[in-house]
Amino acid sequence: MTEPHESDLRTLEKRARDARRPRVDDGDGLVVCDNLVRVYRTEEVEVQALQGLDLVVEKGECVALVGASGSGKSTLLSILSGHDLPTAGRARVAGHDLLAMGRRERLGYRRHTVGFVWQQTGRNLLPYLTALENVALPMKYTRVPRRERATRAAELLDVLGIAHCRDRRPAELSGGEQQRVAVAVATANAPRVLLADEPTGELDTASGEDVFAALRRANEELGATVLVVTHDPLVSEQVRRTVRIRDGRTSTETLRGPGGTAAEEYTVLDRAGRLQLPRDYVDRYGLRGRVRLTAEPDHVGVWPDGSTGDGTDETDRRGR
Ligand SMILES: Nc1ncnc2c1ncn2[C@@H]1O[C@H](COP(=O)(O)OP(=O)(O)OP(=O)(O)O)[C@@H](O)[C@H]1O
Ligand SMILES: [Mg+2]
Repeated sequence: MTEPHESDLRTLEKRARDARRPRVDDGDGLVVCDNLVRVYRTEEVEVQALQGLDLVVEKGECVALVGASGSGKSTLLSILSGHDLPTAGRARVAGHDLLAMGRRERLGYRRHTVGFVWQQTGRNLLPYLTALENVALPMKYTRVPRRERATRAAELLDVLGIAHCRDRRPAELSGGEQQRVAVAVATANAPRVLLADEPTGELDTASGEDVFAALRRANEELGATVLVVTHDPLVSEQVRRTVRIRDGRTSTETLRGPGGTAAEEYTVLDRAGRLQLPRDYVDRYGLRGRVRLTAEPDHVGVWPDGSTGDGTDETDRRGR
């Protein structure tokens, strides 16, 4: 075997240094995922559910996560909620390193820092407790004095518009009411981050709207940073930022101005300069295979191969 050349070694060392360097700038991020990987290994197969996902969410944001079935949305949420561990990469939430957390820190993290709402209404509430008791329960594990728990739980139900449900058990509530109580349970300990995995998935449109309104209140009035996975265009159209996950990575983002108008498309540019174009742009402009780039004074143009960049076709030009 021949010895590697010195310059090859230098290249390899540089690559190793680059691989260790964070890809994402934490900035003001309350939630920071950097090159996050989650591989599920079963006896026969290996599934790469997250394949180097980058995401920064700032304090106070309300973000919708969308993407095809199997793209990795639930996997991401279970990691952020402290239920699951990533295989590699970096994940920080409110100062907690999710890969390095020990058992005690993880338990505290799940009780204080994050709240979680599942899609299945039955999974969020204990059937033999009333709405008020369900909301008061998580406070038992924190330092809320006993006599304050019921008062605080009642206040929370009030803020989320479900005060009328306080003395009913889950079986006596509609699906939408159950999910709104679930939002109250998830916010009982004033978490910094509220995570919801398709919380409106089992509901009709009107009930889904009510649940989403409760999430917004948790965001706007209780100050929780919200990440909500949804297939519901009504939800993703109402948040300022929608992040699309494709094949275990964040692909494109849509940012809307106040009032939900004037959506702008964004995509993530990685350190190697790679970016993913939204599928409908690719289709609309017939982009495939090789595309042509033009350097403009203040932007880069992307053209289908064969067009000239000035609106005419290569064949037109040749015919002139
Ligand atoms: N426990 C597991 N063991 C093996 N593979 C898994 C496991 N959980 C998820 N996967 C696989 O990981 C990939 C991502 O799954 P995930 O549940 O995160 O997708 P999703 O975006 O939430 O999809 P959906 O919209 O259908 O809920 C899928 O291919 C899935 O089959
Ligand atoms: Mg899912």
